[in-house]
Parts: sequence; structure tokens; C-alpha cells
Amino acid sequence: MTRKQLLTIDDLTASDVLDVIAVADALEEHKQRFGHLPALLRGKCLGMIFDETSLRTRTAFERAIGDLGGQAIHYNGAEARVGRHAAKTEHLPDFVNVAGRFNDVLLSRIYDFAAQEAICALSPAPFINGMCDEHHPTQALCDFLTVKRQFGTVEGIRIAFVGDGTNIALSLAQTAAKVGARFTCATPAAMALPADRTEHLLGFTATTDPQLAVKDAQVVVADAWIPMNKADEAEARRAQLAPYRVTPELMAHARPDAIFLHNLPAYRGDEVVPEVIDGPQSMIYPEAVARLHIARALLLFCLRPDWADLAAAAAPGTPGAFAGRLAEAAERPTGGAPS
Ligand code: CP
Repeated sequence: MTRKQLLTIDDLTASDVLDVIAVADALEEHKQRFGHLPALLRGKCLGMIFDETSLRTRTAFERAIGDLGGQAIHYNGAEARVGRHAAKTEHLPDFVNVAGRFNDVLLSRIYDFAAQEAICALSPAPFINGMCDEHHPTQALCDFLTVKRQFGTVEGIRIAFVGDGTNIALSLAQTAAKVGARFTCATPAAMALPADRTEHLLGFTATTDPQLAVKDAQVVVADAWIPMNKADEAEARRAQLAPYRVTPELMAHARPDAIFLHNLPAYRGDEVVPEVIDGPQSMIYPEAVARLHIARALLLFCLRPDWADLAAAAAPGTPGAFAGRLAEAAERPTGGAPS
């Protein structure tokens, strides 16, 4: 089996994306039905490097590997001496080669994409990007799982993103292009996603008009306006982004059955008002919990040599077949950590 990686959504094929979503859904259905999951990752260890804070990503992946019989080790940036702590560096290849041998899979959250790329390239173990300045692939997958649950499909779904063209917007746009969804991104011109990242994406439209983007949308997505590294620009950014705030008036341009998504943490009064994020169209809590479901599937994708068989058995409406496949898989080893 070649080493798997999820540095960006581009590391996945369209079928990988659909398989991860299907397995995530089937595993949660199995858990609801039987109360537990088989220990498909018994003896496996996930190393998680967090140079930035996290509630959802850390909890989802730590819980996910535990649900599947494995365990997680957490390294903060200072321990790993990466990201902001790189000045006190342990030679990065030494850190990655050691962490990637003690662990069977690595997840890293470092703000700088180049640092994530370096760790991914050096790691002897599969690698998952737990967010950086340019990409947030696990969030995009969980948002598409939420969409699939709500609308029964992801194909053809109309998604509008409004605000700053962030890492969330780019990973969602890339995922939409893979699965045949339509993604419109409304940003101020100066905050648009880079054209060289989006011009080839199927179903992608860029606009500066939030109402145009939201018109007839089934999913409206917002993200925080003030990134961690731009706190000193907060007031200028608020002024520039004010027309992109998600309000009931903006939501009225979407389809009546539209849902609102936000990766959280959210800043009520900035990118979205309480009437929307705390209102009936908001799916923020199912969306957050979907990270756990996606995390389980991604860990199996990275670590199980029989991933293709699991994915094939996860087709909707075949819970008996999936349960049988899980029981068989639990009897089979997953192979050792690299040495
Ligand atoms: N959405 C998200 O990635 O949440 P955390 O920053 O809490 O992990």
C-alpha cells in the first residue's frame, strides 16, 4: 500500500472523497445501531502536532482513533519545536522521522503551509493536514458530509461562501469541484481566492456580490473575519467585510430549505448574526460532530490496507453488508508502524 496523505484536498480523487463520506456515515450508523465500533485500529497510534489551538480537530481525531481501538499522542508546538517554535529548532527531519516512527499516522496543525508541506514530505507515516493558512481539508470533508446528510447527495448542490477567501473557502471549492457541487465565493476583490488556485475548478464562480452568491443557494457558509495573524487589522477588515455579514436578509436570497454552516469558532456580530447562527437554518453543531465521523473514516483510509473493501461495503442502504465487512476486518491486522 502506498503511503496515504491528505495535505490538501487535491491528494484525494473524487472517489476517495465520496468513499470517505460514505464510510464516515456508515461507521456512525453502525455505532448508533450497535453502540460501539470494532477495533479496526487496535495497536495503532496517531501523533498529533498542534502549534495552534484546537477544540474540534483535536477532539475529533483523538476520539476517533480511540473509537477504533487505537490511541493518540499530542505534541504541542513547543515540544515538537515546529511552526512558531522553529527558532529553537530540533532539526525538522529528525523530529518528523522520530514522530513518524513512534506513530502510525501524523496529523499536524501549523499555520504555515510550507511547514506542513515539509512535514508531509518527510513523514514516513501517513500525514493529515489538521489546518494551515491555505487549507483545511478535514473541515471541507465534514461540511460535505453534513450536506450529504441534509440533502441526500452532494452532486449538483449549490454552495455559497461569503466573506474572506480563507483556507476554508479554498478547501470547500476544491472538494466541490471533485464531487460535482456548484461553489460560488463572494469576497471583497482584495480577499478573493487566488485565481491560479481556482480557475481550473469545475463549478467554481467568484464574485464580489454576496446577494448574487447566495441567490438560490442550498448551503451558505461563513468563516471568521480576523485570522490569527491579522489581529492588528481587525477594524479595517470589519469595515471591508461588513457587506458580507450573514444576516436573515442575506439568507432570504437562498432557497427556503437552505442551511447555514460555519467551521467555528464563530464571532457573532462579525461574519454572522445570532439570528442566523443560532436560528433554525443553522447546522453548526451537527457540522462540528461530523468532524468525528470524518476523522474515523480518514484514519481507516490512511491505515487500513483493505480500505477499498470497507468503502465498497459502505454504500447507503446496506448496513448488514457493512457490519459483516467490519466484523471480518476486525479479525485482520493492519500492519506495523514504519521503522
Ligand atoms: N473548525 C476547526 O478546525 O475547529 P478547531 O480550530 O477547534 O479545531
